[in-house]
Amino acid sequence: MKNKFYITTPLYYVNSPPHIGHSYTTVAADTLARFHRNMGDEVYFLTGSDEHGQKIAKAAASAGLSEKAFTDNMVSIFIGLWKSLDISYDDFIRTTDKRHSAAVELVLTILHKNKDIYMDTYEGWYCTPCETFWTDMQVSQDCCPDCRRALERIREDNYFFRLSYYQQWLIEHIQSHPDFIRPVSRYNEVLSFLTTNTLTDLCISRPKSRLKWGIEIPFSTGHVTYVWFDALINYISAVGFGYDEAKFKKYWPADLHLIGKDILRQHAIYWPIILKALGLSLPKMIFAHGWWMVGKDKMSKSRGNVIDPLRLVDAYGVDTYRYFLLRDVPFGLDGTFSNEAIIKRKNSDLANDWGNLTHRTATMVEKYFSGKLPEQGSIKENQLKRDNDNLEAQLRKALEAVDFTAGLDALWLVISEANKFIEDTKPWNLLKENKTEELNSFIMLLVSVIRNVSRALTNFMPQSAKSISEQFASNIIKKGVPLFPRIEVK
Ligand code: ME8
Ligand code: MG
Repeated sequence: MKNKFYITTPLYYVNSPPHIGHSYTTVAADTLARFHRNMGDEVYFLTGSDEHGQKIAKAAASAGLSEKAFTDNMVSIFIGLWKSLDISYDDFIRTTDKRHSAAVELVLTILHKNKDIYMDTYEGWYCTPCETFWTDMQVSQDCCPDCRRALERIREDNYFFRLSYYQQWLIEHIQSHPDFIRPVSRYNEVLSFLTTNTLTDLCISRPKSRLKWGIEIPFSTGHVTYVWFDALINYISAVGFGYDEAKFKKYWPADLHLIGKDILRQHAIYWPIILKALGLSLPKMIFAHGWWMVGKDKMSKSRGNVIDPLRLVDAYGVDTYRYFLLRDVPFGLDGTFSNEAIIKRKNSDLANDWGNLTHRTATMVEKYFSGKLPEQGSIKENQLKRDNDNLEAQLRKALEAVDFTAGLDALWLVISEANKFIEDTKPWNLLKENKTEELNSFIMLLVSVIRNVSRALTNFMPQSAKSISEQFASNIIKKGVPLFPRIEVK
C-alpha cells in the first residue's frame, strides 16, 4: 500500500501581496511534497489564504473595496506567485470557501454542545496586526508583547474556548512525542512555556457591532468567530471534515504543518487542544522555521521592509531563487537576505560547481566518445563512487527530518568530489595512453553522478534539473547551453 503524506503551509493573510517570507515556507513545503511524490507517496499538499478578521477588513476599506473584491484580487496575486515559483500544491483553500465555513460551524456547534465553549465578558487588550488578545498581566507599556505596536483596549461579551482544561494533557502529549514540535529549540520553548504558565481560556468571538467580516457563530447572531480560531480549522476542512468522510479518513492526521516561528503558539497550543476537544488525532509534526530578517527586524508587510519575490525571480531565475532560499540559511535559524548572497550562491554553487560538472562531462562525451556513451567499464571503488551510491539514502534521511541543509550538503559534497575526480584523473592522459577501459569507467561514473544528482535536484529546482536529467537520460549526449550563466559584478 502507498503511504500518504499530507503537508500544509500556513494560510497567509491576504491583506497585502506576498514577500520573501511567504515564498520561503511555500518553496520548502513544495520541495518536500515533490520529494514524497517521487518516493511514490500519495501526497496532499495544501496551501491557501486567510481572509477574515479586522486586519483584512481594514485593508479592504482603505483600498475602497468590498472585502470580497479585495481578497479575490489578492488571492490571484498569491496564486500568480505560486505559479512563477513552480509550486505544485494539490489544493488551495480560502477561509471564505463554503466547505470551510461549514466545517467551522460544525466545530463550533460540537464544542459548544460539549461545553468546551462558553460565554463570558472579555476585558483586555487586542493587537490588530497580530490578531491576538493579551491580558493585563502580559502587557507592559501598552504595546504588543510580540510586535511592540499599539494595542486596543476591549471590553465585551464573548465566547471562550476552554484551553485551560487541556493544559496538563497537552504537556503530556508533547513529552511523549519528541517529534511533535521541531526543531528541538521550538519544542523546548513550547514545553517551558506550558510548564511555567497557566493557560487562560481563548476568546474566540468578536461582536458583530465591531467586526462583521468573519464566520457567524451558529448559536449567536451577534458574533463572528475570531480569525485564528477559524483559520486553523482549514487543515481539516480542506480534507473533508464534515462533508467527505472517506477523504478525511485517508489524509487526516496531517504529517507535517510547516510554519514560521511567529505562529508557533497557535499551532502547538491552540490547535492540538481544538483537535483533542473534537476527539480527533493530532498532526504528526509541527515544524517552525526561522525568519528572514532585514537588519534587526523581521521582514514583514507591516514593517514595510519587504522584498517582492517576483523581482528576484526576474533577476536570477526561479531555480536560483528556490535554491538560495533553502541553501543559504540552515533550516530552522534566522537569516538575512542580500543580493550579494544570492549572486554568490549562483556563481559558485550553481555555475561553478554544478553547471560546470554537467558541461564538462557533456563536452568530454562529445570529444572522447563522439557523443555516445561507452558500454559500462568496471568502475573502481573510490570515495566518489561510495558517496554517489549513498546519496539517495542520505537525501532521504535528511528530508524526512526536514533538514534541507543536510540534504543539499550531501548533494554538493558529491558534486565537488566529481569535479575533483576529473582534475585528479586527467582523462586527456588516459586517452593519449590508450587506456580505454579506464576512460570508459571514468566517464560512466561521472554520468551516474549527474543522473543521481539531477534526480535529487528535481525536488529543489524542478526546471533545470529536468532539463539536465533529459540531457543525460539516454546514451547519446549533446552539449547544452549553460543553465546557470554567471552574473558578472562590477
Ligand atoms: O500568520 N521569514 O499569516 P501571515 C520567514 N494567517 N517566514 C515568514 C516571514 C519572514 N520574515 N514572514 C512571513 C498568518 N513568513 C496567519 C496564519 S495559519 C492557519 C494562519 C511566513 O500572512 C511564515 O510561514 O502573517 C509565517 O509563519 C507566515 O508567513 C505568516 O503569514
Ligand atoms: Mg504575520
